[in-house]
Amino acid sequence: MKFPKNVTLKEVGPRDGLQNEKSFISTEDKVEWINMLSETGLSYIEITSFVHPKWIPALADAVEVAKKINRKQGVTYAALVPNEKGLQRALEANIDEVSIFMSASETHNQKNINKSIEDTFKVLKPVVQEAKENGKTTRGYVSTVFGCPYEQRVSIEQVIKVSEHLFEMGIDELSLGDTIGVGNPVQVQRVLDELLKRFHPDQLAMHFHDTRGTALANILASLDMGITKFDAAVAGLGGCPYAPGASGNVATEDLLYMLNEMNIKSGVNPDHLIQAAQWIEKKVGRTLPSRNLQVVKGSC
Ligand code: HMG
Ligand code: MG
Repeated sequence: MKFPKNVTLKEVGPRDGLQNEKSFISTEDKVEWINMLSETGLSYIEITSFVHPKWIPALADAVEVAKKINRKQGVTYAALVPNEKGLQRALEANIDEVSIFMSASETHNQKNINKSIEDTFKVLKPVVQEAKENGKTTRGYVSTVFGCPYEQRVSIEQVIKVSEHLFEMGIDELSLGDTIGVGNPVQVQRVLDELLKRFHPDQLAMHFHDTRGTALANILASLDMGITKFDAAVAGLGGCPYAPGASGNVATEDLLYMLNEMNIKSGVNPDHLIQAAQWIEKKVGRTLPSRNLQVVKGSC
C-alpha cells in the first residue's frame, strides 16, 4: 500500500453531528464549541446547515451561529445549503463555502430533500452559480454512494451520473457519502476506480459513517488510492434523520490517531481535539462512540 504524506481533515461535527441530536444544543454552546474546534489546527469546519428549520430543528439557529463564531484566519467555515432560500440565509451569514447535497438513490433523495433527482439538479444549478458569483467556493455531497436505507443497492452508474452533473454545475469538490455505513474497502476501491477515471483525486473527499465499524478500513482503502480529504466528526457524532440506521461519522480523533501513527500529517493537535470531544460529550449528555475518547476516560 502507498499513502499520501499529508491529508486534510474536514470537521463536520457541528453540522452532521448535531443535526441528529434530540436535545437542542444552545446557540452559545455551539458557538463556544466551534471556537474550540477552530483552535485545534483544523482548516475546515462545517458549522451548520441552512435547511428548513422544521426539517432539522437542531440547527434552526444557523444564521446566528455563523454570525457569532470567531473566524480564525486559514479556517474555511462551510455549511449545507439545499436551495435558493438556504443560499440567501447562507449569504446573509457570510459563510465561506456552500455545500450542496443530494443522493445517488431516488428514494433517499426524495425523503431527504422532498424532490426527485432530476428536480434537484434544476434547484441546485442556480445555487452553485449564484454562490460562485458571490465569491464562495462550493462543495457537493453525493449521499448513499455505498448503499441506500430504502433501496439497498446503489449502482456505480447512478453515482457517476450524479457526480458528473454536480461537477458540470461547477462545484469545486465532491464528497462521497457512505450515509448509513454499509460500505467495505473492496467496494470503495471499485467506486473510486471508476470515479478516478473521470476526476482528479484532489477533487474528491470521502465521508464515512461508522455504523458497522468499517470507516477506518474504508479510509485506508481511499488513502491507498490517493484520496487526501476526509470528513469526520469529533467524538463520532453524526447521522441523518432521513436515513434510518445512520449513526455517527468516523470520529475525528480516531482517524487522527491512525494517521499520526502512520506518519501522515494533518496539522491537527490531538490533545485539543480530545478536549473538544470531551466538551461536546458532556453537553449532549451521553457516551459518544469515539474510541480515543474512551481511552482518555480510562474506560478501556
Ligand atoms: P420543501 O418543503 O419541499 O420546500 O422542503 P419548498 O421549497 O416547497 O418550500 C416550502 C416552504 O419552506 C417555503 O415557505 C419556503 O420558503 C421554506 P412558505 O413560502 O411556505 O412560507 N423553505 C425554507 N426555509 C428556510 N430555509 C430553507 C428553506 N427552503 C424552503 N432552506 C427542503 C425542501 C430541501 C427545504 C427540505 O426538504 C429540507 O430542509 N431538507 C433538509 C434535510 C436535511 O437536512 N437532511 C440532512 C442533511 S443531508 C446528510 O446528512 C447527508 C450528508 O451528511 C452526506 C452523507 O452522510 O451521505 C451530507
Ligand atoms: Mg453524513
